[in-house]
Amino acid sequence: MAVATQTTSAIRPFVYAAASISALGGLLFGYDIGVISGAILFVQKQFSLSARMEEIVVSSVLLGSLAGAAGGGVLADRLGRRRLLIAAAIVFGLGGVGAALAPGTAWLILARVVAGVAIGVASFVAPLYISEIAPVEIRGKLVSINQLAITIGIVISYLVDYAFAGSGAWRGMFAVAVIPAAAFGIGLIFIPDSPRWLAGRGRLDQARAVLKKIRNPDQASSELSDIQESLGRQKGNWSELWSPVLRSAMIVGIGLAIAQQITGINTVIYYAPTIFKFAGLTSSSAAILASVGVGLVNVTLTVVAMQLIDRVGRRPLLLISLAGMAASLALLGLAFSLPQFKSVLGWVSIASLMAFVGSYALGLGPVFWLILSEIYPLRIRGRAMSVGTAVNWTGNLVVALTFLTLTKALGKPGTFWLFGVVTLAAWFFAFFLVPETKGKTLEQIEAYMRSGKHPRAL
Ligand code: BGC
Repeated sequence: MAVATQTTSAIRPFVYAAASISALGGLLFGYDIGVISGAILFVQKQFSLSARMEEIVVSSVLLGSLAGAAGGGVLADRLGRRRLLIAAAIVFGLGGVGAALAPGTAWLILARVVAGVAIGVASFVAPLYISEIAPVEIRGKLVSINQLAITIGIVISYLVDYAFAGSGAWRGMFAVAVIPAAAFGIGLIFIPDSPRWLAGRGRLDQARAVLKKIRNPDQASSELSDIQESLGRQKGNWSELWSPVLRSAMIVGIGLAIAQQITGINTVIYYAPTIFKFAGLTSSSAAILASVGVGLVNVTLTVVAMQLIDRVGRRPLLLISLAGMAASLALLGLAFSLPQFKSVLGWVSIASLMAFVGSYALGLGPVFWLILSEIYPLRIRGRAMSVGTAVNWTGNLVVALTFLTLTKALGKPGTFWLFGVVTLAAWFFAFFLVPETKGKTLEQIEAYMRSGKHPRAL
């Protein structure tokens, strides 16, 4: 036992480094979706965009992400996780340079779609890769490094926007992405392929060699035989994805993907300054500063989640998170509906938005990506994750395109209450269907999900 602990602690830094390098994909994800909020103000002026055009420029990145997520699954299973991430790093760089050099709107939209494709791919391949190299007892924490990187990327983008805003240099805002893209691409050259993907392709010697680098020697051989045994049960074609044995895993992944988006997190990420202005915070710089505050709450509570996720488990965090989100949304709706609150509306809205984002970061944010990376069989893991991820990006797009219209149609309190009701529904979904994957190897989870037993009983 003592020997095992020693070896593990010698190995862990390497696993952490590999996970952190892949998580640069998450950092670029966060940066690229956040950067537009500041850049659009200047792009709109320079290219004299109509409101419709402005919406298209803003949402083009989401369309690209949807395409990348939908198309990346087959590639993740065929080319491998690491090679696909290297391709994504190159595309991230191209998207950044392209947007920075855009001579006109069409070019800019195209560059944003290109960056989006890289985001869509990295959004699921990074957690997928990390989950496949992670030792079981810290898998939750390691995979959530990617979510942490997303939240850090969002905050960096706000700060970079803020720094360039004085000079109106929107091209610089996009160009900055090239730095993490280069670090991501170069870093990936030095990390190993996923041992699980290698074994799935029949490259057992290479899989064994990688496992020896990331596990104790005795763990390495027993893990490889578990992987081989589990591979023996899998067919690995598309039809398997929709077969009755995998139905509950697909429902859990798709349901959580929808829940993560339609409970409204991105109304805050994309529109925080607008919401603060609704609440009477008239100065733009105060509104921007409040957004940075929201971003920092997102980062901090993600760190807290990472400390708890392998100890407390995924389910408790998810359920507490959804309950906290529903309560904050109810309060936000109340703040907007009661005239007595008028004088304190600004403060109540800031406090409830912070509570909403904090609750999200504690569970729904990291847990969705983690569970998605854990519940599918190895041979079709890339394709299955890409389905859930594409649904997630579709939800993201729908919410981004309808939020402002919703607030007009239902009123502000009505909109927040609607999100609150949806969040309650998500709580019941999570309570009845989401499995607890803490402490189980990916192969144990797979065997259970195939057994046809109820996911909650795992
Ligand atoms: C979600 C994004 C969201 C981000 C906020 C991610 O897990 O997929 O849509 O913007 O969390 O932290």
